[in-house]
Amino acid sequence: MAEARIIDGKAFAEKVRAGVAGRVAALAREHGLTPGLAVVLVGENPASQVYVRSKGRASEEAGMRSWTHRLPAATEEAELLALVARLNGDDAVDGILVQLPLPPQISAEAVIEAIDPAKDVDGFHPVNVGRLAATGAGQRSRGLVPCTPLGALMLIKDVRGPSLSGLEAVVVGRSNIVGKPMAHLLLAESCTVTVAHSRTRDLAAVCRRADLLVAAVGRARMIAGDWIRPGATVIDVGINRLEPAEPGGKGRLVGDVDFESARAVAGAITPVPGGVGPMTIACLLHNTVTAACRRRGLAED
Ligand code: GUN
Repeated sequence: MAEARIIDGKAFAEKVRAGVAGRVAALAREHGLTPGLAVVLVGENPASQVYVRSKGRASEEAGMRSWTHRLPAATEEAELLALVARLNGDDAVDGILVQLPLPPQISAEAVIEAIDPAKDVDGFHPVNVGRLAATGAGQRSRGLVPCTPLGALMLIKDVRGPSLSGLEAVVVGRSNIVGKPMAHLLLAESCTVTVAHSRTRDLAAVCRRADLLVAAVGRARMIAGDWIRPGATVIDVGINRLEPAEPGGKGRLVGDVDFESARAVAGAITPVPGGVGPMTIACLLHNTVTAACRRRGLAED
């Protein structure tokens, strides 16, 4: 069998971002509207700082307004809730994203629930979680959908075509950010969905059933080539840093799938980096434009 097609998430994300920029330009031209995204970072987590910086830059490149609120690590929950309330009430702000994780004195649940669901571009608010869970077969969620699984679905449809009906999908991982929303999205596409996790018996055998395998466990190279059904589409959401080869060096980034053995078996596979990662920010911009349109009753695409 031929080697797997390597799914170029970076190139696809650039297409999505160009599409968003086109919609932003049209909204300005036709409605005098510029969508705006507010990002909130509490503390100095280095990975979060990198993400927040790229989110701000990407919004501006798409022609949107962007605000970054940086708060000290010792910020009290009430202070963050007051900022969220202010952003909820600011009509120029269409999207609000509070970067996770938050420091231990702040309840992420309380903060997420304080965000106006119409501005919740992460799709983490219970109203948006519920709308996704209630989405019927062949329908699109009326709520905002979490960015990483939304990006993964776009890549899957690019490879497999628009209909995923009847495919066996296995999602490995049950997080609120990726695994659970991914399962709901694939169910709405009429896939037969299995959600596997750390307690699943004979995980290899479960994975081998999959026409679509989505790995989101956060364990470096856990899924080996012989866990993959020949010809399957493999979407690797994991981003794990290996121990550096020499002291002081920077460890290599790898996914949850053992790429070298998997590419010999799969039909198509996302690399790490350059697969799902770039799609997350592209979908954040997409969600911000969607939120801006829906809040004003404008057509979305
Ligand atoms: N931290 C890691 N991923 C995410 C995400 O998708 N959204 C937010 N808000 N924080 C994150």
